Amino acid sequence: MSAATTTPVPSAPSGEAVLSVRDLSVSFRGHDRTVHAVDGLSYDVAPGEVLAVVGESGCGKSVTSMAVMGLLPPTAHVTGSVRLAGRELVGLSEKRLARLRGQEMAMIFQEPMTSLNPVLTVGRQIGEVLRKHQGLGRREARERAIELLTLVGIPAPAKRVDEYPHQLSGGMRQRVMIAIAVACDPAVLIADEPTTALDVTVQAGILDVLRNLRERLGTAIVLITHDLGVVADTADRVLVMYAGRAVEQAEVAELYGRPAHPYTRGLLGAVLRPGLRGTDGRARLNEIPGMVPGLDAQPDACTFAPRCALADDTCAGARPALRLIDGAHRLACHHPAQAGPQIPEGAAR
Ligand SMILES: Nc1ncnc2c1ncn2[C@@H]1O[C@H](COP(=O)(O)OP(=O)(O)OP(=O)(O)O)[C@@H](O)[C@H]1O
Ligand code: SF4
Ligand SMILES: [Mg+2]
Repeated sequence: MSAATTTPVPSAPSGEAVLSVRDLSVSFRGHDRTVHAVDGLSYDVAPGEVLAVVGESGCGKSVTSMAVMGLLPPTAHVTGSVRLAGRELVGLSEKRLARLRGQEMAMIFQEPMTSLNPVLTVGRQIGEVLRKHQGLGRREARERAIELLTLVGIPAPAKRVDEYPHQLSGGMRQRVMIAIAVACDPAVLIADEPTTALDVTVQAGILDVLRNLRERLGTAIVLITHDLGVVADTADRVLVMYAGRAVEQAEVAELYGRPAHPYTRGLLGAVLRPGLRGTDGRARLNEIPGMVPGLDAQPDACTFAPRCALADDTCAGARPALRLIDGAHRLACHHPAQAGPQIPEGAAR
């Protein structure tokens, strides 16, 4: 790792962080090159807090989450620290990680059909988690499964509990996945694009479920999304990633009102210029011209420089550290934009 070790440690805005990621790096060694998917990333999430992670495709959002969950393949080389309620997870045996998964941390994915077992009823699938982690008997597990289906807003839960995944709509399947994920009341829930495959009204229902979990159970949620409408509606804070690195981190209102990184300002163009919306009318991450850099090097430079109109020799010669610029607002840029909601023309090219 390069200058990442000098990165100041971010802290959750209030209370103790339940999940603390410090200087996390993940690389995949191939035959002819190494891909540095995550490079010196740090963040905290407090109980009951929703942290949104945004950034273009390939910037390392999913790899970060899989590293936290201990779900990366053996080809992945992970360094740094991931602490869950104070316990270090990096280097823990698969057996111990498997015990924590489901019980203290859980993850839901974009496409619930691939994660559900088509030949088992939803009640059995929720019940299996409860039987495995909490030692419940068959009848107790079924009753608890019905309670969980109620919690995630599935109508007629006593009937649905005996249905198979193919009998449910996509939105209902995603609710079942959330029910499985929160069956043991995990402290941390990572939701990786949980609404992307769903239409907009169904999405709203799923986000309500996540908000409800945070309020009722105090679950800390890491929400990965491309949808800036989802971020604004659901998250407390936002972490913006670019090419495996954190480039900006702030509370939602602060980030939307005063985006300081040229990359963030480019992304938020979709929100600030209402003409740029998806076909469903929701604001999407703006398309920023230029290519995301290859991840086979960890340059001591700003990786956004080839796409940034503000880039100069400093940007090409030194990696900007993530540092506090105001309150809890953190930025990795040598030339922070003047605060203000307007994106200067050409700030991102
Ligand atoms: N098992 C793997 N082996 C090698 N490289 C991988 C592996 N998994 C991911 N990568 C690489 O790591 C980088 C980050 O991928 P990741 O899936 O985290 O992106 P992402 O931000 O989640 O993108 P998306 O928005 O498309 O889901 C990519 O360059 C990807 O090709
Ligand atoms: S101004 Fe420099 S450091 Fe900031 S984003 Fe642009 S290239 Fe990177
Ligand atoms: Mg992903």
